[in-house]
Amino acid sequence: MTLDQQIAKRRTFGIISHPDAGKTTLTEKLLLFGGAIQKAGAVKSSKIKDHARSDWMEIEKQRGISVATSVMGFNYKNIKINLLDTPGHQDFAEDTYRTLTAVDSVIMVIDCVKGVEIQTEKLMEVCRMRNTPVICFINKLDREGRDPFELLDEVEEKLSIKVRPLSWPINMGKNFKGVYNLYEKSLHLFTGSKQTVQEGLEIKDINDTELDRLVGDTNAKQLRADVELIEGVYPDFDVNEYLEGKVAPVFFGSAVNNFGVKELLDSFIRLAPPPIPRATTLRIVKPDENKFTGFIFKIHANMDPKHRNRIAFLRVCSGKFERGANYTHVRQEKGIRFSNATAFMAQDRETVDEAWPGDIVGLFDTGNLKIGDTLTEGEKLMYTGIPSFSPEIFKEVINMDAMKTKQLEKGLLQLMEEGVAQLFSYELGNRKVVGVVGQLQFEVIQFRLKNEYGATVQFQSQNLYKACWISSKDPKKLQEFIDSKQRHMARDKDDKLVFMAESRAWLQMVQDNFPDISFHFTSEFK
Ligand code: G4P
Repeated sequence: MTLDQQIAKRRTFGIISHPDAGKTTLTEKLLLFGGAIQKAGAVKSSKIKDHARSDWMEIEKQRGISVATSVMGFNYKNIKINLLDTPGHQDFAEDTYRTLTAVDSVIMVIDCVKGVEIQTEKLMEVCRMRNTPVICFINKLDREGRDPFELLDEVEEKLSIKVRPLSWPINMGKNFKGVYNLYEKSLHLFTGSKQTVQEGLEIKDINDTELDRLVGDTNAKQLRADVELIEGVYPDFDVNEYLEGKVAPVFFGSAVNNFGVKELLDSFIRLAPPPIPRATTLRIVKPDENKFTGFIFKIHANMDPKHRNRIAFLRVCSGKFERGANYTHVRQEKGIRFSNATAFMAQDRETVDEAWPGDIVGLFDTGNLKIGDTLTEGEKLMYTGIPSFSPEIFKEVINMDAMKTKQLEKGLLQLMEEGVAQLFSYELGNRKVVGVVGQLQFEVIQFRLKNEYGATVQFQSQNLYKACWISSKDPKKLQEFIDSKQRHMARDKDDKLVFMAESRAWLQMVQDNFPDISFHFTSEFK
């Protein structure tokens, strides 16, 4: 198969949702369709449930599971689908943000009872930064949910994206009758729980009395009114607007009942983009370029504390990746070769000899790679768009065992390279502050530092609001600012200067006092 053919048959995507909306259930049904698993219940949730807050072994176990389910590859209708799993627990949201840098599109799951929830809002912000195409799946129609029009309004309002329903529910909850596919003009009847998947019944004319017979007069009447309204309110679906991340097509269904999932998958392979061109420091790289390039978006420590091997997840962006070939590690400016490379198919891991754009390869690494690193065949470009985001909680690291200072430094460095949290080292004094998205991350760091590196730490709360990356058109003004705020300046993992703002009000005041300085909540900005 040629490079072009390999690219055309690949779809790499992630599912985003607020915990409990049905991501794991949907993943499992998609894998069933792909024949990647044989029975329901085979996908272990990678989410860390609340009860695990005090159970470290449970966290470790679940981290182990999440390696296995980090990437699930399967074939469906001759399309190679790579589904990248994202941790459901909000405390690990940064891991999810980074995973989203490696996908070409996403499916967003929304619970029809709860509507748009906070975690979905945050994840969509990341998608919008990159104009990632989004398909929306409104789930749990077997429950009494909110009015579908109201839900769509909420999506548009809270997620700042236009929507276009491509299917429409007929009633919901106990009276859920099924969905009408507005695109194919076919009716899918819901026959109760755990049903087998049926092909849709063609109803080309919505005024066909067959519809009344199948779903009842009242429901048919309501559907006709809804369809009329949809066609009046929403412009026709334009696939280009979807590909530009401006419009999200919407489907309705019930994942647990395997209802509406096949339609979603069929539409997904038809609409979702194959591997797309990507920005680098030098130029845009197209997937069909002959030379291999790729970047690391995730690093996972091995479970065995005695061997500090790590798995680095590489997204292939262009050309063909070959195991054993000599590549350039652009940041370190040196050659690197991987004799051990793993592909992820369903839940199995197997050695791969070659991989194509859109594929994810697991590379065994002993400490050379960190998140954001680029591999090429020699060109000195680096992929961009893998930013750090300002953490939300900050704590100072207090070393409790002076004998283990070296181990602590090494451990901190490695955990930060894995992206477990972000470390900010103050310019003055030797203070190191760890920033995280959720409290649970501190507990994981503390546990892993002890368990894997023998270092004992405590964390001391810091009164900090945000870490702001700074820039200015005027280098002199920037230097003046840095000099005047020395006590509040720290360095991030890439040695970039960061202003540590103590409160929202104070940041506002500083912004007013230094109008020539721009403050950014992510490490990459234009
Ligand atoms: P998540 O990964 O997004 O966190 O959600 P997950 O799939 O684990 O689903 C959360 C809960 O919602 C699960 O119930 C799941 O069975 C249920 N669910 C998923 N899809 C549907 C649906 O279409 N209709 C209804 N009514 N429920 C759905 P649970 O009780 O938390 O877990 P379980 O014991 O059923 O596994």
